[in-house]
Amino acid sequence: MTTMERAPAIDTRFPFGPPRGWFAVAFSEELGSGAPLRLRYFGRELVAFRGESGRAFVTDAYCPHLGAHLGHGGTIVGETIRCPFHGWRFEGDGRCAAIPYSDRVPPKAKLGALPTLEQDGVIHVFHDPEGDTPWPLPALDAEGWTPGRSIVWRGLATHPQEVFENTVDTAHIGPVHDGRGARLLSAPRRDGERMEVELEFQAPGDVVGMPEQINDVHLHVSLRGLGHVVVHTHVRNVGVRARQRIYATPVDAHTIDIRAVVHVRVSEDAAFTRELDEIFYTAYVEDFAKDFPIWENKRYLVRPGLAKGDGPIGVYRRWCEQFYTTAQLDPTAQLDPTAAADVPLSALRASAQRMNVVAPVRERVLALIDAVRTRVRAPEPARDDAASVPTAAITAPSTRRVSSVDEYVETLGERFVPAAARGVDAVFQWELAGAQGAVFHAHVSDGRVLVRRGAHEQPTVALVMEADDYVRVVNGELDGTWAFTHGRGKVRGSLSAAMKMRALFPA
Ligand code: FES
Ligand SMILES: [Fe+2]
Repeated sequence: MTTMERAPAIDTRFPFGPPRGWFAVAFSEELGSGAPLRLRYFGRELVAFRGESGRAFVTDAYCPHLGAHLGHGGTIVGETIRCPFHGWRFEGDGRCAAIPYSDRVPPKAKLGALPTLEQDGVIHVFHDPEGDTPWPLPALDAEGWTPGRSIVWRGLATHPQEVFENTVDTAHIGPVHDGRGARLLSAPRRDGERMEVELEFQAPGDVVGMPEQINDVHLHVSLRGLGHVVVHTHVRNVGVRARQRIYATPVDAHTIDIRAVVHVRVSEDAAFTRELDEIFYTAYVEDFAKDFPIWENKRYLVRPGLAKGDGPIGVYRRWCEQFYTTAQLDPTAQLDPTAAADVPLSALRASAQRMNVVAPVRERVLALIDAVRTRVRAPEPARDDAASVPTAAITAPSTRRVSSVDEYVETLGERFVPAAARGVDAVFQWELAGAQGAVFHAHVSDGRVLVRRGAHEQPTVALVMEADDYVRVVNGELDGTWAFTHGRGKVRGSLSAAMKMRALFPA
């Protein structure tokens, strides 16, 4: 049996990285009083600890002295954490409180720390790469609700924005949750970091042990940033109310932990409340998990193909934009202006030969350049001979056919080879002319790619060709070398960037 597997396009499944905001890093009960708790969120190694007063703090895990991990043997002294290696002590805000063998604390002896707030039985931290002031996070009303039953799902391969997009995605309620007639009762209400959504649907009663019944469900969904949602559920035909809190926290750019707490409204009949608590918790856990296989295998489409009847996905996504830095939303804003100015090594060598310096120095420079040439091993383009460059970029015979330029654009993210992108920060643009022509670009940075339709203001390199010819080259029906050497295509911009295209985006 032959099994064909495509390499997972992990790096391109969700393009923006962790958003800023309040995120749950632990339930209160996960953090005891004696020892620090090791955590990993936002791509950072962290520790949480309680001072002797009981207050919770979250800081970086690695000691700024010589790098010991505070979660492996760190101890609590008063309101500080003591490093196991040399005994330096740090406050919860990261300042160094004491060095046992020195009366002077170096100014740089500071641990990274995150604003921390423990409430509603959850330890929240404010993650913001730009260090803005956290927005207020009011405590929830506990009165009249059961204490809540909690659950943690760790290591889901998705992103908080994807999870909470489902709150406006009414069309998924039928296929995934078996609900019928789902509809929003009004447009989502947006106010800064808050968004509220109200919807209703009919739910079969079998998940709550009532197979004969169709339940009339009303949901009030309240988002505060992309860290958590509070959902008030009212099953109107039986007059029962529940409240679910869902916390999604990025472990890194591609993985999250989800914590959830389910409460029900307390009734006068304690036995009924207990029974309801059990039924709702079980039903919720079972029903919520139905979304996981979708989230873990889907990819984020920047331009989804929406239809009449879809929920207000665009409204939600525009609201989400406030939680990212400009660079996260458009990495091209970080474009390195020197990237387009790469000089072929042969030209550098020629200049070095003309250097007005003593011979041993010149020889040394030439030797260095030659050493670099040997290491990169890429064939260098002859200067003023643009034709040889795109040849190297796109002559590979096709291993994956496409029927149109559109299809090529859609698959560009999957064709991207992150391993070839180390150290590359450049914008690659395709300018394809003709009936099915299109202009699109791919920004490669930090091993990741962001593909966008349209022209970039300052592409590092642009490949110009007839769209039909390009599709034929991709499909191996037209020889790229022949096409470029016979004027059927040209390259504008950095030749060395053009050289990288084939490795980054193999056909
Ligand atoms: S490494 Fe932490 S005190 Fe030296
Ligand atoms: Fe769902």
